[in-house]
Amino acid sequence: MDLVFFNGQIMRMNEVNISFEDRGYQFGDGIYEVIRVYDGKPFTLKEHLDRLERSGREILLELKDMRKDIEESILTLIEKNNIRTGNVYIQITRGVAPRNHDFPDGDTKLQVIAYTNEVERPIQKQKTGITATLKEDIRWLRCDIKSLNLLGNVLAKQEAKMKGFQEAIQHRNGTVTEGSATNVFIVKNEQLFTHPLSNLILPGITRELIIKLSKQIGLPVIQEPFTVDQLLDADEIFISSTTNEVMPVIKVDDKIIGNGTPGKITKKLQDQYEKLVSEVIAKV
Ligand code: PDD
Repeated sequence: MDLVFFNGQIMRMNEVNISFEDRGYQFGDGIYEVIRVYDGKPFTLKEHLDRLERSGREILLELKDMRKDIEESILTLIEKNNIRTGNVYIQITRGVAPRNHDFPDGDTKLQVIAYTNEVERPIQKQKTGITATLKEDIRWLRCDIKSLNLLGNVLAKQEAKMKGFQEAIQHRNGTVTEGSATNVFIVKNEQLFTHPLSNLILPGITRELIIKLSKQIGLPVIQEPFTVDQLLDADEIFISSTTNEVMPVIKVDDKIIGNGTPGKITKKLQDQYEKLVSEVIAKV
């Protein structure tokens, strides 16, 4: 059954009508989250809702007392749509109003939609690894906000696809920032490097989990900017996201990374991630 949550109600997908004057549609004026579902349970739901609230605050879109309602609706959707392994997508826009750039009146209602998809984990790709291409990061300077404005990300991913790669690794003037929809890590001399939290990257929830797991296994984590040259010279590269988890990158443009197969530290982190998921899900 394809049920969705729309402005406070659970309804069928084909009953939802969204106006062409929705500010998300016209301006990308809104925020979103993608939450993983394992074994019928949402993974790191609290962290995703915290980030959703923060994204809202940063664009002056206050969720106020909606959080509880959103949380309950996500649980209801997963149950009623019988999702075992999948995603929940949730999006909130600043509402429907005549098209003016400045915000509509205070009484304009936010538009909230949440829906689910059954999506398998990318296990095979995690075993073989993927390839990536380098791309200049042309996005705005608030990449820490998970906003609906994804044109820079969309163009990066499409360019990768057209060149025959599976992800784009973006850089600003030679400093690696993040993927089109992933965070980027490198391993060099048994140390893990990733871009520090700043306005230039999304504070990935998977990124945070990986940093915690690394510390637990005694792997030093250095959250400092690194260059494209360091990326290409890395022993191992992997990307992370809610849907990719820990995904090895075995080639960047025509440069083979390591020996062209997922590295041993990447594999160790994949195992640790797997364990963490089972533990967390067992507790929910
Ligand atoms: N993307 N960086 C960007 C630009 C992203 O869009 C994402 C997530 C991440 C990883 O964040 P997390 O670990 O919290 O999923 C990093 C989601 C999955 C998407 O847009 O589909």
